[in-house]
This record gives sequence, C-alpha cells and structure tokens, in this order.
Amino acid sequence: MFFGGFLKTVDLEKSAVSNSGKKALILSVLISSIIISGCSPHKDKVQSQNILLGFSQLGTESAWRSGNTADIVNKAKASKVSLMMENGNRRQEDQIAAIRRFIAYQVDVIAFSPIVEEGWDNVLLEAKDAGIPVVLVDRDISTDNPDLISCKIGADFYNEGVMAADYLIRKADSLGKKEIKIVEITGTKDSTPMRKRQSGFMDTIKKDSRMTVIESINGDFLKSCGAECMRHLMKKYGSEIDVVFSHNDEMTLGALPEIEKAGLLPGKDIVIISIDAGQEAINVLKEGKINCVVECTPMLGKELMDTATKLKNGEKVEKVIHPKEGYFCDEQDLSELSLRGY
Ligand code: AHR
Repeated sequence: MFFGGFLKTVDLEKSAVSNSGKKALILSVLISSIIISGCSPHKDKVQSQNILLGFSQLGTESAWRSGNTADIVNKAKASKVSLMMENGNRRQEDQIAAIRRFIAYQVDVIAFSPIVEEGWDNVLLEAKDAGIPVVLVDRDISTDNPDLISCKIGADFYNEGVMAADYLIRKADSLGKKEIKIVEITGTKDSTPMRKRQSGFMDTIKKDSRMTVIESINGDFLKSCGAECMRHLMKKYGSEIDVVFSHNDEMTLGALPEIEKAGLLPGKDIVIISIDAGQEAINVLKEGKINCVVECTPMLGKELMDTATKLKNGEKVEKVIHPKEGYFCDEQDLSELSLRGY
C-alpha cells in the first residue's frame, strides 16, 4: 500500500504516539489511506498486513530509480508488509524529515536509499533510541557507528568499477592500442556509487600504463547533465578521446548524441562504457553505439521485504546483501537476452 499522499497532509513531528496507541494508529493510517484512494476497507487484508515499513526513496532521477521504486512497491504488495513511502526529490533534508516522520509513526522498520554518504548519524541515533531497526537500500552511509544500521541491501559498486575497467583492458588489447585517453562522467558527488565505481575503475586501470583519465566530470546521474558534460568534453578534447566511462545509463544516453553532433561515431570512434544495464541502454548496445554495460540491478524489493520481516520477528539478518551482477558487451551474443524489466 502507498501512503505518500496521506503522510504529506499530516504534521507528524507534532503528533506524539504512545506505544499502546501504535496499533490504533496503524489502523487509522490504513483507513485514512483507503479513504484517499477511494476504496472500501477489506477486513482480511488489513489484518494480514502486519509489518509497517517506512521507506525513503531518494528521487526519480533515472530509469534505474523508477525500476527500483516499482519493484519495492510490487514486492510489498505481494507480502505482509504495509509500505509508507516518501520520495526525497534528491534532497537529503527531505529524506531526514521523512525518517523523522517514520519514527513518530513508530513504524516497525525504516529503510532508506541515502542520496549521499555523510550526515545521517543524528537521525539514525533517534531511530535507534526509538528501537526501530534501519535498513540501507541501494546506497551506503559513512559513519563511525556501524550499529546504527541493521543491514545493507545493494550492489557491490566497487566491483562494478572493476568490471568496467577489466572490459576496457580487454578492448584495448583487441584494438592494439598503445595509449588510451579516458573521460569519466561520474554520478552524484559524495554518493556511494560515484565513489566506489570510481575507485574500482581507477584501482584496476592504474596497473595498465596505457590508460590515462584526462578528465573526470560530475554528471549527477542525470541525462541532461550527461549531455552537458559531453558537450564540454567534445569541445575541449574532440577526437583525442578514446573512451567514455559513464557511471550510469541515463548520463550515457544523454552523452551519445553530443558525440554524434561532433561528427564522431560512439561505439566505433569512441569506446563507450556504461553502468546499470537498463533496457534502453541494452538496445543501444545492440545497435553498436555502446560497447559495454555493467549490470546494476534495481530489483532489491524481495530482499528488503524478507529482511524487514526477519527484523520485525527479531531474527538475525545478514549485515550486507549484494545481488549477483554481471555485464553485457560487444564480445557477447546478446540475441537471446531477455527483457531487463527496467
Ligand atoms: O545508486 C544506484 C544508481 O543511482 C544507479 O546507477 C543510477 O542510475 C541511479 O540513479
């Protein structure tokens, strides 16, 4: 169930709730949201939804993010989890306010996808004091207090950077190149995928003397910024560029037309490496305009629901859960590849 509309109409920070009032409050939330959605309440359904999960999504910046939101909503619907979801619109302060509302509601479990790594300790201490376990979804935080978090469910971003670099080293071998000039379009500054994808990539290419990153530029995980960055890079370096390493598909899809406008062929004159492997990027890979897409799956909903259920039942959970990921590239036969779902 989706509670976003209801939550935004109530000043929860002022509504203190006693422990004994929790059940009544949950029921009133259910009833209120049913009124908003215009449905009549169904007794069995209300009774079977016995875990209340507050989830703060960070934004709507990419097809990856939309796929992640949809998966979490769908997996909550298919389980005994009632979902209170808020979108932070890429603002950390909005996410912190949402977490405070979840605490005021005394939800059973809080989950959130932090836009950046720093700055969460205070609100997470409040959650800990309220006895509410917290799960990180997708991205990580930086803290000296690991006890603030019960579990992290998300990709191994460092390994994604390594996979991107390993592909590039093989590609350089096959092209017989002696010198490779790389431009990097990074994701949101101070976010986990930006930091880890970059370090995985850099740690791997630094062992190969052919590789030089001539510029690294922040594209903020947005298509429009990817285009803007590429315009700047084409103007500054033009055909000097051998490789674009872009931290997500959205920015890659923004960058490709800028390369074409400059009279070069992406995938041929310039090697293009992307991350996410959403359907649109896979289609462009098949057209030959992208050379490699490292997979980052947004399908984290089932693990989140399972983890929330275990935490509510007082069971032990794994501290870190990484989904299995691979890559798709021009070395492979992709004709049988099934639809990606995001
Ligand atoms: O945190 C995951 C990243 O965030 C994805 O690579 C990107 O597309 C999204 O915006």
